[in-house]
Amino acid sequence: MGKNTVFADDIEEIIISEEKLKTRIRELGEEITAAYNEDDDIVMLCILRGAVLFMADLAREIDLPVVFDFMDVSSYGASTESSGVVRIIKDMEENIEDRHLLIVEDIIDTGRTLKHVVDMLHTRSPKSIKIVTLLDKPERRVQKELEADFNGFEIPDKFVVGYGLDFAEKYRNLSFIGVLKEKMYS
Ligand code: XMP
Ligand code: MG
Repeated sequence: MGKNTVFADDIEEIIISEEKLKTRIRELGEEITAAYNEDDDIVMLCILRGAVLFMADLAREIDLPVVFDFMDVSSYGASTESSGVVRIIKDMEENIEDRHLLIVEDIIDTGRTLKHVVDMLHTRSPKSIKIVTLLDKPERRVQKELEADFNGFEIPDKFVVGYGLDFAEKYRNLSFIGVLKEKMYS
């Protein structure tokens, strides 16, 4: 578990190691670089807070000029599943009209949150919208038409933490993605 020993007893299993994250993020950077032109005006939109570490590492693997922006949303509804009724806690700052928007997300689960965000951002007339997600839980998808253009890893339907993802705001600073032990919920 390396430098994250303080959390060692809470983690059931490491499902994506720091090395695997690094390798895949480098590949994603190459895929994204190839998908645009050098003179495209690209706004990278990080969805707070889970995608912060992914955004920081991914951006350095993209060989294009990009602008950073951030949006914080919260989904109302039952505790385990998002409702898709999304409240904007912090909107983005950039005007995206006629610009390329690259949404950077930590995980797509049911897809409800991101569907709402994408629909809302479409009304601001960007030139294009693409989605990059680090993790995807396809088994859980409710919004079937919602798919990422770039996807780091497909994972099984288990609650994961680390590398930006939290449980009750903890574990974001783990350098790997792990499954949380059940005793930590109960
Ligand atoms: P939906 O269902 O709308 O929700 O796609 C996506 C959001 O739910 C959170 N989420 C997780 N967070 N570990 C986490 O730390 C998980 O396994 C997990 N699954 C879903 C996350 O905030 C994501 O943006
Ligand atoms: Mg999130």
